Amino acid sequence: MPVTVIVGGQWGDEGKGKIVDLLSRRADVVARYQGGANAGHTVVHEGRKTVLHLIPSGILHPDCVCILGAGMVIDPAQLLSEIADIEAAGVQVEGRLFISHQAHLIMPYHKVLDELNERDLGSRAIGVTGRGIGPAYTDKYTRVGIRIVDLLDRDLFREKLDANIAAKNRLIHELLGRPELDRDAILKDYLDFDRRIDPLVKDVSVYLNEAIDQGKDVLCEGAQGTLLDVDWGTYPYVTSSHPTAGGAVIGLGIGPTKVSRVLGVMKAYVTRVGQGPFPTEFDVAQTEQMREAGDEYGSTTGRARRCGWFDAVIARYSARVNGVGAWALTKLDVLSELPTLKICTAYEADGRRYEQFPAETRVVQRCRPLYLELPGWRRPISDVRRLEHLPAQARRYIERIEELTATPALIISVGSERSETIVVKW
Ligand code: IMP
Repeated sequence: MPVTVIVGGQWGDEGKGKIVDLLSRRADVVARYQGGANAGHTVVHEGRKTVLHLIPSGILHPDCVCILGAGMVIDPAQLLSEIADIEAAGVQVEGRLFISHQAHLIMPYHKVLDELNERDLGSRAIGVTGRGIGPAYTDKYTRVGIRIVDLLDRDLFREKLDANIAAKNRLIHELLGRPELDRDAILKDYLDFDRRIDPLVKDVSVYLNEAIDQGKDVLCEGAQGTLLDVDWGTYPYVTSSHPTAGGAVIGLGIGPTKVSRVLGVMKAYVTRVGQGPFPTEFDVAQTEQMREAGDEYGSTTGRARRCGWFDAVIARYSARVNGVGAWALTKLDVLSELPTLKICTAYEADGRRYEQFPAETRVVQRCRPLYLELPGWRRPISDVRRLEHLPAQARRYIERIEELTATPALIISVGSERSETIVVKW
């Protein structure tokens, strides 16, 4: 049975939640490998919408075990409230949800610092989600972070918290003039979390490697997208982790040789939340039209998303840096009203043509997209379940994306419901 990495091919919000939920029907294990509650994975089934920020999208399938990997940064209050919400909706979580010892904790001061860092950046602000992601990964890499395992040893937790509070208060209170952190309140909350989180903690590397050896079907769920990767994205307008497929092996403690395939998820157009370059971005009027048609508002922050034409340059780039073997193309139905569609095939900047995504963010900022135009299909397609029943223009649109990226689209999503999907082959 395969180990599949599911990765966002654009700037996040590609519809990974729906695709992971769909593929979880056959999966034994779904494991999130990076990020935190900055993600918002939406699953719609039988008219009920569930937005998951930390818990993998496989949780709605009762036979699926869900893992929060070592590469994640976890806000315990958010996790416990998400567990309570899905239990209230009748989903049994006990014995099916596990957290890595090595995952890092989001602390209240990470959220304060996220906001202060952003304010300091002024016009160069990144447009973060405010969930404390960057400061938590900063602590991880400066080796002062507090991990899930530390919650299980109360004395060690107290010691690490005190050292962190002293350092953060020097910055937040003495330098920036903001109120001091309340050490006792934080300690009380986190020591309360420990009893509830303790039964969920597991050596996820051992668990996953055993599952793989037993031939189980494992899905590794990425959050955000390739262009938000801290190394491979449009730095500095990125998140602080590795959404790319490589992040899965680091974040879950499995070797690269264990991964059988990578499925890239892309919208049939492109969206982006927050700042940073976006070569195929629409003008204001077109963005508003697309935002309403596609309900393009962030599922974590509610922010309006920027929208643009499908960009084959970033799709080729995602295929390359992730080793994508197939695409899941989502939200094709949102394009149904448009008389003409455009696909960006290359960029032009400073008198030069770019077939490959430029490695320098400043160059990307100057890039002008070169488009090919295709006719639209102008009829609803959400009821279509077989590729050959799609209008010829919609099939042509998909084929052009496949040709331009040398990668087949094996799953096509034509609506938000789990059932509104064309599975060409999987
Ligand atoms: P952070 O991850 O909160 O630090 O935000 C960094 C950048 O990544 C900002 O531009 C966010 O809007 C973007 N971002 C973070 N998480 C997501 C996501 O799940 N979907 C889309 N954009 C995201």
